[in-house]
Amino acid sequence: MSILDRIVRRFVPLSVRVWWRRGGALNLGDLRSMEPVSRVFGGDRGLPICRWYITRFLESHAGRVRGRVLEVAGNEYTRRYGGAQVTHSDVLMVVEGNPVATIVGDLQTGAGIPEGAFDTIILTQVLQCVFDLQGAMRTIHRALAPGGTVLITAPAIAPVSQYDVERWGEFWHLTPQSLTRLLATEFGDEQVQVGACGNHIAAHAYLAGMAAEELTEQELAPYDPDYPVVITAVATKSGTRAATPA
Ligand SMILES: C[S@@+](CC[C@H](N)C(=O)[O-])C[C@H]1O[C@@H](n2cnc3c(N)ncnc32)[C@H](O)[C@@H]1O
Repeated sequence: MSILDRIVRRFVPLSVRVWWRRGGALNLGDLRSMEPVSRVFGGDRGLPICRWYITRFLESHAGRVRGRVLEVAGNEYTRRYGGAQVTHSDVLMVVEGNPVATIVGDLQTGAGIPEGAFDTIILTQVLQCVFDLQGAMRTIHRALAPGGTVLITAPAIAPVSQYDVERWGEFWHLTPQSLTRLLATEFGDEQVQVGACGNHIAAHAYLAGMAAEELTEQELAPYDPDYPVVITAVATKSGTRAATPA
């Protein structure tokens, strides 16, 4: 440490040194309001930032969306990414009353969810709503056919959805470490690939309620592990699906 550094350390308070290093005071501008610009994840302004990451993730694994596919609450991603590769599309709901649901069941206990049935499970933004995560991992593993794959996204740095809180609950926001450990317990380390997307610009914009269209690709795409917005995972059940008898 130079003599000048020592003098600065001795006589200039820490807060002033931090301010100086960062290039002066920051201006919160439009964000200096108790009301975010959107309370629906930016959905009223454009594409929610989480969906920008989710669609990129699913696009990059579209080849895995095939055969009998299970998705939660709808089958938009099954149709969009599976297309003609999908032989049967199921929609899971935890409560009765959704006309598009083909299965009413609980991921925590496995009740209502068939065993060894699915080639692909698409689980986007669901795990934050499931209290017993290890139970859900058991159900997912059990429900997959041998060789089947689950494609998961889960929120990390994200607003809490009161819509979900009031219906089934919103209990956790995950990290790459927690999702890796949860999945590896059922699938084994070798069968699990966990990733994440986001950076501090995307995280701040998402929390403020801005939409993906309000940022550039150069602002959305880079990943900074200190600021994960969406956690992604691909886990494959070992084995090979028995051929269907002719
Ligand atoms: C935020 S929504 C996500 C829906 C959809 N997958 C998406 O990407 O928009 C969370 C979903 O989790 C479902 N869910 C909550 N608890 C569940 C449970 N124990 N078993 C199965 N699904 C559950 C709810 O039905 C709800 O549709």
